[in-house]
Amino acid sequence: MILFLCNRAQYDYYKYHPMSEITSWMEQMVKDHPDVVTVVKYGKTYESRDISLLKIGLNTGKEKKAIWMDCGIHAREWIAPAFCQYFVREILQTYKTDAKMEEMMKNVDFYVTPVLNMDGYIYTWENETTRLWRKNRSPGPEDCACYGTDLNRNFDANWGTVGVSFNCCSNTYPGTKPASEPEAKAVTEFVGSRKDIFLCFLTIHSYGQLILVPYGHPNYTAPNYDELMMVGKGAAEAVWKVHGMNYTVGASPDVLYANSGSSRDWARMQGIPLSFTFELRDNGTYGFKLPEDQIQPTCEEAYSGALHIITYAHDKTFSGAVANAAVTLWSILSPTSHTFIFVWFQVLWLS
Ligand code: ARG
Ligand code: ZN
Repeated sequence: MILFLCNRAQYDYYKYHPMSEITSWMEQMVKDHPDVVTVVKYGKTYESRDISLLKIGLNTGKEKKAIWMDCGIHAREWIAPAFCQYFVREILQTYKTDAKMEEMMKNVDFYVTPVLNMDGYIYTWENETTRLWRKNRSPGPEDCACYGTDLNRNFDANWGTVGVSFNCCSNTYPGTKPASEPEAKAVTEFVGSRKDIFLCFLTIHSYGQLILVPYGHPNYTAPNYDELMMVGKGAAEAVWKVHGMNYTVGASPDVLYANSGSSRDWARMQGIPLSFTFELRDNGTYGFKLPEDQIQPTCEEAYSGALHIITYAHDKTFSGAVANAAVTLWSILSPTSHTFIFVWFQVLWLS
């Protein structure tokens, strides 16, 4: 009896879970780590479910920076919510023994939304015919009988220009206007109202084994494209080291397809410097129906890739603080004072 009471069944991170279990899991995370984890409700879905995230970090009393991660913006990409849950478990385990993770948990808060498109996710669990639903569940405009807006075409980033269809039955229907959908509006308002704290914005999808950088529109290039590509390639290498899987890095038009209205592009346009989309396994063998026996390896390698980006973002602001100060000081002094010192030495030499 005592054994039964104490041995609460362990959550199985290597299975797919219905929404109700993911919601209970979120509450359990708070109970297990009350000093580090809180649930934040930041909006409602079309079907009026609470959209919530886990805010994870160590309380230092100081102002903190932040890392954004959302999963399950597309309903059928079940590996994405599984990854967000794995990610949360990993950082909560790691910080206790790993000094680097502890340092990051002191400097930043992780804002993790395990399932953004909850209505769509629940719909894909209904039966086999709805398993491949992608969009949210809001009804189309009056003259159209179909349901659903593609939430990753609904953000205010060159909205409605490329990679969309205004037929409301289409899988890439972008909605009636930017952030017309409550799920996209919730992210827009939550992140938009505190955009200065976010060092990094990661949005998790499947499939295709890609790390996508802004922008989805072929006519625009991010001002820090070179940095994004460098960091993205570092992440792909970190992924590769875990199970030898190849992830391709690039802007969406170069490696997948052009698109507009994505949350990744929106975040970059808001000034968040390091914004990426992960397209997890596989390459199309099983596609969205990735077998459960691939959850563990997929999460392990993606964790390594995500951590590469997060560590870079963190170090750029924190660990490098002393070095950054030195460089800044040097550039303030230069070039005039460099010239001055040079001339001064010459004068000394010649005299
Ligand atoms: N998650 C992707 C999206 O946001 C779908 C990628 C699947 N298609 C592919 N060719 N890999 O649209
Ligand atoms: Zn997707």
